[in-house]
Amino acid sequence: MFDLLTRRRLFENSSLLALASAFGPAFSQTVPRSEFGAGSTAEEVTEGLDLSGKTAVVTGCNSGIGYETMRVLALRGAHVIGTARSAEKGQEAAAGVTGRVTPVVLELTDFDSIVACGDQIQTMDVPIDMLILNAGVLLKELQQVRGLEMQFVVNHLGHFILGNRLMNRVTEAPEGRVVVVGSTAHRGAPEGGIQFDNLSGEGWIRQSYGHSKLANGLYSLELSSRLAGTQATSNCVHPGGVRTNILRNVSPGQSSGGKSPEQGAATQCYVATHPSLAGVTGQYFADCNPAEQSDYQTDEAMAARLWEVSEELTRDYLV
Ligand SMILES: NC(=O)c1ccc[n+]([C@@H]2O[C@H](COP(=O)([O-])OP(=O)(O)OC[C@H]3O[C@@H](n4cnc5c(N)ncnc54)[C@H](OP(=O)(O)O)[C@@H]3O)[C@@H](O)[C@H]2O)c1
Repeated sequence: MFDLLTRRRLFENSSLLALASAFGPAFSQTVPRSEFGAGSTAEEVTEGLDLSGKTAVVTGCNSGIGYETMRVLALRGAHVIGTARSAEKGQEAAAGVTGRVTPVVLELTDFDSIVACGDQIQTMDVPIDMLILNAGVLLKELQQVRGLEMQFVVNHLGHFILGNRLMNRVTEAPEGRVVVVGSTAHRGAPEGGIQFDNLSGEGWIRQSYGHSKLANGLYSLELSSRLAGTQATSNCVHPGGVRTNILRNVSPGQSSGGKSPEQGAATQCYVATHPSLAGVTGQYFADCNPAEQSDYQTDEAMAARLWEVSEELTRDYLV
């Protein structure tokens, strides 16, 4: 009986290894479940953790989920570098936080601003233990940057540049974790997924937020493959429907769901810090647990192609 079990486990392990080498690290994982859920808060999921000596970068730190993420990581002792679109917004947000916080300006529609933000963080000369790509926008009308649909630029392409310019610091950390804030809205992407032949947004504006969130998930998946062999990981999260400013351009004053920002920040804080997730990569989480995602978001060929296209679109701004 023991022999049979041992042999079966060995077989399963070697199958997993074969799968891992064929399909990348995301396929070889057993992702632990947690006792946390939709009602858990960021403070609860980080309770008892000592993050002193660690550095986190959180984009979009002046509002909603990003602010709460910055507040709680700083409360637990991390040095949080928080980005906002203006120095005033960053300073105002930092003033409300107990702990060590450094505001940095980042405007994701302006690629020079992303380069400057990356350069400023590089001069701090510290490993980045947590890179939380959180900033995001939801639009109703078609807007474009450089001829590209704006949410694709803000939510994905801008973070692609920032990630490129900071990844050396993430891999310097003993266990660097990239957390990409996606959404269950990735299921609302257009038929076919990423619109490689027409990134202008024309013809698919109603699905454009979902398109950008699918790009978030695919970026995280491809990044996890590219980080194979390092100590660093990348995972994507859906924070839940959260009462923030995300609907400001669609229906001002309305909230997008039942979670408070304290609850909305829990999954990304959990994935960024929890010891049980050491080495877990290429996964998708909601309510502090592994979650179902669309076939498009697990499409490795689409993820690889998105990476290549993103590189082409941003080449002059990459290191
Ligand atoms: N709330 C939800 O129900 C929900 C659900 C699923 C996913 N999400 C995701 O969660 C993340 C955080 O959103 P939230 O709900 O906290 O919304 P929020 O309160 O509107 O915060 C969004 C943050 O992103 C920043 N941002 C927007 N456009 C930017 C740009 N061009 N350059 C740099 N920063 C920019 C905002 O800065 P300003 O304040 O200066 O505009 C703000 O700091 C987003 O990625 C969103 O897609 C939210």
